[in-house]
Amino acid sequence: MTERREAMMLQTIRLSEDRNSLIILDQTLLPGETHYLHLQTAEEIHEAIYKLRVRGAPAIGVTAGYALALLGSRLQEDSKDSFLTALRKEKDYLASARPTAYNLFWALARIEESAKKKLTEDPENIEAAREAMMEEAFAIHREDEDICTRIGEIGFSLLKKGDGILTHCNAGRLATSGSGTATAPMYAALAHGWGREDFCVYCDETRPLLQGARLTAYELSSAGIRTTLQCDNMVSSLMAEGRIQIVFVGCDRVAANGDAANKIGTSGVAILARHYGIPFYVCAPSSTIDLSTPTGREIHIEQRPGEEVTDMWYKERMAPQDIEVYNPAFDVTPHELITGIITEKGLVKAPFEEAFRSLF
Ligand code: MRU
Repeated sequence: MTERREAMMLQTIRLSEDRNSLIILDQTLLPGETHYLHLQTAEEIHEAIYKLRVRGAPAIGVTAGYALALLGSRLQEDSKDSFLTALRKEKDYLASARPTAYNLFWALARIEESAKKKLTEDPENIEAAREAMMEEAFAIHREDEDICTRIGEIGFSLLKKGDGILTHCNAGRLATSGSGTATAPMYAALAHGWGREDFCVYCDETRPLLQGARLTAYELSSAGIRTTLQCDNMVSSLMAEGRIQIVFVGCDRVAANGDAANKIGTSGVAILARHYGIPFYVCAPSSTIDLSTPTGREIHIEQRPGEEVTDMWYKERMAPQDIEVYNPAFDVTPHELITGIITEKGLVKAPFEEAFRSLF
C-alpha cells in the first residue's frame, strides 16, 4: 500500500487483527511516501528497528513488546523451562537491534516478566503465559499514549505566548503512540486553543538521518503549527538573534545522575542553550530512566555505518572513497546542562538522583 496521508492520521505501530503480524509505518520513506510494512519474523522486526523504519525510544519499546509477545505465541516448547529458555533467545535477539534506547530493554523485560509470573502461578499453562504476554504488550502500547499527554501538559505549563521553541531530531507522534514527548507540549498548546500566532517551533534538520527535516517538520506543519527548519549548525545563530525561548528534546536513556543520551547533536544544543541563558528541558517517559546505569559515561552509544554520512540522501557519494567516518547515533548531555526532565510523573530537577528515587 503506497499513498500520501496527513501526518496526524498516521499510526506508527499496530498489531494485525489476526495477531499474526506487526504493522509498522516505514519512517525511512517519509515524508514522500506512506507505506506500512507487515512484519512476521524476528529477522524482519530486527531489521526494521536497526534500519530505523520504526524508531524513537518509546516506539521501539512498543514494537519490541508486541514482537516478543508475537514470537512467544508461536513457540512450540511445552514445558515451563524450555518455553522460557526459547523466549529468552528471542528476547536477546530483539535486544541486539539497537543498544542505546532503554525502552527496548525495558519493554522486553516486561513481556518476559509477565510470562514468568504466569508460569510461576501455573507452571503447566503455557497458553496462559502467551496470553499474558500479549496483554502486557497491549498495556505498554496504551500507557504510552497517556504518558505523552501528561508530558505535554507539564511542558505546556512552561510555555508563554510568543515563545520560539527549539527541538532536535524527532521525539514526536511518529516516535511514540501519542503526541510525542518533546512535541507533546506543542500539541498540548493546540489543544488549549493556541494558534499559529501564539508560538512557533524551530526543528533541527538532524544530520545524518534527517529525522528533524523528514519527520518533525512534516508532522508539526501538518498539524498546523508554525514550523521552521534549520540545519543543525544554525542553532547558535538562531539563539543569538533571540528567536528561541525554550528547548524541548527527547531522550533515549537517562542515567541515574540525570545525564541524558539523545540524538547526536543534542549535547551541543544544550551547551549553546546554557551560553545564551535559554532553559533546556529533556522530555522522557519514566521508562527511559535507567537507574542501573550510574552516569552517562556508562551508556552504550550506538555507532552507525559511515554510508549514512557519505552516501545517504545524495545522488552520488559526496565524500572521498575510503575516508574514515565518525558516526555515533547519540551523545550524552551532562546533567549540569539540563534545566529539568519532564516525565509523566512530574517535572524533575537537580539533584536528579534524589528526585528519581522519590519519583519511583
Ligand atoms: O535514531 P532515532 O531516530 O531512533 O533517535 C530518536 C531520538 O533521538 C529521540 O529523540 C528519542 O528516541 C526520543 S523519541 C520520543
